[in-house]
Amino acid sequence: MRYALISDIHSNLEAFRSTLQDIEKQQVDKICCLGDLVGYGPNPVECVDLILSLKKKGKLEVCLPGNHDQAAIFGAEGFNYMAQDAIEWTGDCLERSGAKASDRLDFLGEITQPQSRFFQKNELLFVHGSPRNFLNEYVFEEDVEDFKKLEDIFSYVSKKFSAKYCFMGHTHVPGVFVNNRDGGKYEYHSPKDIQDSFDGKFKLGSEMLLVNVGSVGQPRDGNPQSCYVVLDYEPGGSNNYLEYKRVDYDVAKTVGEFERVRKSCDRLHIFLSERIKDGR
Ligand SMILES: [Fe+2]
Repeated sequence: MRYALISDIHSNLEAFRSTLQDIEKQQVDKICCLGDLVGYGPNPVECVDLILSLKKKGKLEVCLPGNHDQAAIFGAEGFNYMAQDAIEWTGDCLERSGAKASDRLDFLGEITQPQSRFFQKNELLFVHGSPRNFLNEYVFEEDVEDFKKLEDIFSYVSKKFSAKYCFMGHTHVPGVFVNNRDGGKYEYHSPKDIQDSFDGKFKLGSEMLLVNVGSVGQPRDGNPQSCYVVLDYEPGGSNNYLEYKRVDYDVAKTVGEFERVRKSCDRLHIFLSERIKDGR
């Protein structure tokens, strides 16, 4: 099976559309979305509709909830003021989105049920944040030196879920953590490392992995291009691998959408459109 793993779309319709066009070329069987479909960006209604159309076509394996999807339905908790303003505007937008408003809200309501917060298929585990805190925990590259944290997270993957490879989003920073302490840290590979050292294809071998798939709509690794992962995987297969993909999209068009929204309300702060220009 070939999967496209996408995450953190954040209501960026242009990024989402361009990413789906790129995914079409990869001949994947299914798409898994690891959460944060909405929040921050200017086109929540269109992004929910796009995911609903993937579901209707049978292309969607799963859509997990992110903390922003959760906040759109249940209210923002622990958000900074910019994220909170944006998610409250998102909720209002969806509620006032006409005849299909209830379909859209029902979908977000469905994915934010407690039993929908992770998805497992054989030894593959999918979450938004981390396997021990599905919605809110961040696992950053700096954590390679936090042995207790990574040891605990890897042990959740193997003991609680009997899984081996865990895919996540939430930080908006792509990279692979390997359950192997190399010197004073856990082994970690950025997409650039994977390109330079493994010719772009990272093999799923005997070691457990935590894989951050990056962000479609608001990358924060200094590269504004959308990011997603193609996973080629058969249970028990010896040629299983993952590949990071970067996709150009019309950033200026998304910035224009932010400006359109700002003409009638002040709840999408300027920083949110500035940051997508340079991927921060
Ligand atoms: Fe996010």
